[in-house]
Amino acid sequence: MEINSLHFDHLVSTNTWSKENFQQFDKKKLTLVTANSQSGGRGQFKKKWISPSGLNIYASFTFFTHNTSILGNIPQVLALSAVETLQFYSLKSLLKWPNDILMNGKKIGGILCETIQNDRDLVVVTGIGLNVNMPKNLLDQIDQPATSMLVESNKKYDINKVLSILTGHFQQNLEILLSQGFTPFLETYTQNLIHNKGDRLHFPEASGTFQRIDNDGSLIILLDNGKEQKCLRGFTS
Ligand code: BTN
Repeated sequence: MEINSLHFDHLVSTNTWSKENFQQFDKKKLTLVTANSQSGGRGQFKKKWISPSGLNIYASFTFFTHNTSILGNIPQVLALSAVETLQFYSLKSLLKWPNDILMNGKKIGGILCETIQNDRDLVVVTGIGLNVNMPKNLLDQIDQPATSMLVESNKKYDINKVLSILTGHFQQNLEILLSQGFTPFLETYTQNLIHNKGDRLHFPEASGTFQRIDNDGSLIILLDNGKEQKCLRGFTS
């Protein structure tokens, strides 16, 4: 998909702005909205995403689709694209199912995927926050262990270059996902997971041990009662 990029010095949230303005977007393109800073950056579970100016990537990718079967895989594939981007810089990160990006056990990036039904189209807005040049004193203000490329390597990075590598990977991966589904990603996604077979996992609905990732990207856990449970997009089914 061809890309259209819009950059702002400041937004409340790149996801919110995209959700409010998608009517202006080209339906055949992938629209990338970025900002140097966000005052109302949002994370999963209604958490705040700390977004200081000029230090990190705050980006939202929007596209229109009818293919609802792969919705849950979009954030997974964006997270994998972030892992591939970090690999380019020889930085090893791991995925916490479904779409958290961790480095040395600390969060370096996260994804917030939201959808809007617009007539017959489904509008998908997938936002990513990736900590690039965020120094330790600011990371310490986050309510969970967090890190950045700077802290992990003692080097400063060109944020635009990191963004362009990430965008290239996501563009390519999204094309594959839309045409072939999640199966082509199963091996690389699994290889880059933090979970190993037998690790204990706890969800509000169930707890058990990690078994594997299914063809559709869902998580299979073995419950304590010996039954397998399939978890899709963080919710059990
Ligand atoms: C998470 O909690 O892990 C998800 C964090 C997502 C943050 C990004 S930053 C760009 C986009 N705009 C937002 O308000 N949130 C996402």
